[in-house]
Amino acid sequence: MKTIIKNGMVVSPAETYKADILIDGEQIRCIGRNLADEEARVIDAAGKYVIPGAVDVHTHMDLQAGSSRAVDDFYDGTVAAACGGTTSIVDHMAFGPKGCDLHHQLADYHRLADGKAVIDYGFHGVAQHVDRGILDELEAMAEDGVPSIKVYLTYDFRLNDAEAFQILKRMKELGGVTAFHCENHDIVEYCRRTCVETGRTGPIYHAKSRPNLAESEAVARVLSLARLAGDAPVYIVHLSCKESLEAVRDARRKGQKNIFVETCPQYLTLTEEKYLDPDGLKYVMSPPLRTASDCEALWEGLACGDIQVVGTDHCPFNFHKEKQLGKDDFTKCPNGAPGVEERVPLLFSEGVLKNRISLNRFVETVCANPARIYGLYPQKGILQPGADGDLVILDPTAEWTITHDKMHSAVDYTAYEGMAVKGKIDLVMQRGRIVAENGAFTGERGAGRFIHRKCYGAE
Ligand code: URP
Ligand code: ZN
Ligand code: ZN
Repeated sequence: MKTIIKNGMVVSPAETYKADILIDGEQIRCIGRNLADEEARVIDAAGKYVIPGAVDVHTHMDLQAGSSRAVDDFYDGTVAAACGGTTSIVDHMAFGPKGCDLHHQLADYHRLADGKAVIDYGFHGVAQHVDRGILDELEAMAEDGVPSIKVYLTYDFRLNDAEAFQILKRMKELGGVTAFHCENHDIVEYCRRTCVETGRTGPIYHAKSRPNLAESEAVARVLSLARLAGDAPVYIVHLSCKESLEAVRDARRKGQKNIFVETCPQYLTLTEEKYLDPDGLKYVMSPPLRTASDCEALWEGLACGDIQVVGTDHCPFNFHKEKQLGKDDFTKCPNGAPGVEERVPLLFSEGVLKNRISLNRFVETVCANPARIYGLYPQKGILQPGADGDLVILDPTAEWTITHDKMHSAVDYTAYEGMAVKGKIDLVMQRGRIVAENGAFTGERGAGRFIHRKCYGAE
């Protein structure tokens, strides 16, 4: 099957230009003016932007978190992603049984995703303990297409500094990336305990017990460990506050290389006042929502390139079910919120159309950079001959309101209910097939493929 996308404005991180795109089978054959091919179906994109299929490198499909399980499996979650313009995800594996090796979780995740995902997908490993076996296994994980691993500095299977350092050193040798959830566990635990002991159990205390400095301290510490490991590639997930961004800037000013930073739409567009609403539990996620001045600092960080990626941390629990575990005590509420479908339109509307970031930076942060950092580029993240035929046609003038009934996740709410946005996704294509059109899923269960990712820096 051949397709020509005609007369669209093609957007890359470097430029925006009018062109036609010819997709032959699964890949882009050429991009140019006045392309014609008798066999090709033609899709008119005049007046629209054509961007690469977006890449979300921070999702948690089917995540088992304590006694709760995220409600999107790899089918529902990737349908939502596809309808929101995302054609590739890299999912963070859950912790496995105590003492399990890395391949235990890899096998589990293949079982969860293979035959279900509707878009292409990869996985990040998770380090839940460190010994010789785990350090040796990192190489086999990279060979199996998983050249990245996540370290948590809080939660049950957090690593201590020496363990994190060993992972960083080994991943540097392998050319892999280590992702970090940065929060100072002892401080957060102390604050949470104190809140509960003094009867401060409402959702707002989720935010109060996870202060900005508890995050930025951990960010600074991780950056020091990465520096000590010889500027090991380090990726800070869901950075949420200005102090953390300052820690990143300090490290870079001192010359440290290979630092990558991600933030998420919720930290750019929502603030901690949400916790005071009657449905405040919807926003219990870690790190928590911050203040308007943090949002402002993050937009500035994105605009100047200090933040490279916008991921979602999509981790949905139903408000009327799992989230209610926290109704009398916020510490019992499973952490996480949905967002995989809202990311691209939100960032376009709130970022590009409100002049906070350029159109090219938008494409860089939701498509190209995540693909580059995590070894999917140039197969994914860019529109160019030889790349996969993954693209999104975006109508920049259409206005609509985000409401739960328009979303495709299995979860019972959207964190952005009622938000007016400008810019609507008309069509989403993956490897030459239309997977979403006018807000409806048109793809196929199990059509997504596992992406065997390359090490950082290899193209
Ligand atoms: O609250 C969150 N973010 N839940 C998902 C797991 C994580 O920390 O990324
Ligand atoms: Zn996290
Ligand atoms: Zn996460």
